[in-house]
Amino acid sequence: MSTEISAASRSLIEQDPAIASAISREQGRQLRGIELIASENFVSGAVLEAMGSVLTNKYAEGQSGKRYYGGCQFVDIVEDLAIDRAKQIFGAEHVNVQPHSGANANLAAYFALMNPGDKILGLSLEQGGHLTHGLKVNFSGRFFEAHAYGLVPETGVIDYDEVLATAKEVRPKAIISGASAYSRTIDFKRFREIADEVGAYLFADIAHPAGLVAAGLHPSPIPYAHVTMTTTHKTLRGPRGGMIMTSEEFGKAIDKTVFPGTQGGPLMHVIAGKAVAFGEALQPSFKTYAQAVIDNARAMAKVLESRGFPIISGGTDTHLFLMNVDAVGLSGKQAEKMLDKVGITVNKNTIPGETRSPMQASGIRIGSPAITTRGFTKADAERVANLVADVLLNPDDATVAAGVVDSVAELTLRYPLPGLGVGAIQPTFEGH
Ligand SMILES: Cc1ncc(COP(=O)(O)O)c(C=O)c1O
Repeated sequence: MSTEISAASRSLIEQDPAIASAISREQGRQLRGIELIASENFVSGAVLEAMGSVLTNKYAEGQSGKRYYGGCQFVDIVEDLAIDRAKQIFGAEHVNVQPHSGANANLAAYFALMNPGDKILGLSLEQGGHLTHGLKVNFSGRFFEAHAYGLVPETGVIDYDEVLATAKEVRPKAIISGASAYSRTIDFKRFREIADEVGAYLFADIAHPAGLVAAGLHPSPIPYAHVTMTTTHKTLRGPRGGMIMTSEEFGKAIDKTVFPGTQGGPLMHVIAGKAVAFGEALQPSFKTYAQAVIDNARAMAKVLESRGFPIISGGTDTHLFLMNVDAVGLSGKQAEKMLDKVGITVNKNTIPGETRSPMQASGIRIGSPAITTRGFTKADAERVANLVADVLLNPDDATVAAGVVDSVAELTLRYPLPGLGVGAIQPTFEGH
């Protein structure tokens, strides 16, 4: 038997135990932990299966029906379905499902309608924006002249008057609406009015609330934005990836800037995963899920506020919120570490008026999409919030920490992870 054939016939654990073991330990971590990172979720077994398929072997540069490679008849079916389902979900005229990630989607979208040196106006990173909305060291801040708007300090809500005033002063080519750590509904209509007033394009980056938009629980930017970009792996609960939606008018420009402008061959196995996830998002059960995501986030914010943690903007309309941990004498980094030790995963986050560096930060961001996928109820979400508060309010109390570890074990044993059990690798359990 040749080496190639024998290698192909062996399972991952036989062929590469080091990688198999790391995957199995990560499965154990996901299964045993409470995942509160707002940008993460758990895909279904069907999405995992599609992503782990032979479609990874196929090159398919170009658009469906117009490829630069032969043998694309089956991957065309996959990409057509992904596009059709996305159109059905969001009501967009034109969809490109090829961006490898949210950052790639933004890169392609910007270059489709702008040139290097053009001005962009986005939410400041420190107040909840994303790197790709103009951070100096990111492509968005290097190729474009980046300007920022912020939040109303007293309310923590986007300062639309400031957006207008800055837009009038700067005259940007594009205004970017969207955020990574903003808990309130975004008023896309208002953004479009401002964009129209200064002759700018409106880009809507719905990477975070895309699943809520899909479920009709957050206003859609599609009627207002010239271009809408999203990731597919956060509230939308698909594989890691990006997508761009636009009107027919800009469709060709977007397609050309994705390929050959900024990418080579599309990841057809991931596009298959996107198609499967979009099929799931079209089911009535997805709306129930998305409503539970919002209910659970609200329930957690309420409990944490009552336990003495100020919530930025006073609450949430979405799947996430930011809480101030400086109020109890902690940095975000300390809080993240303390929670990690008991199996609760969050991320530190800067808060409006931040006084610490981003690596320390004064807040943490909490999200409900992942626990809600596992089936955590509102009562469970309240319990989780109380566990978070117990840990952060009792930094040196080993008894409290041990009690929280027990509660985390009890909760996570009750709710399985979707998709687990697919494939040969079984989880290895380790302490946190
Ligand atoms: C608003 C926003 N845009 C874009 C991205 C980038 O997505 P990715 O990490 O897939 O590149 C993110 C990811 O966190 C995001 O929050």
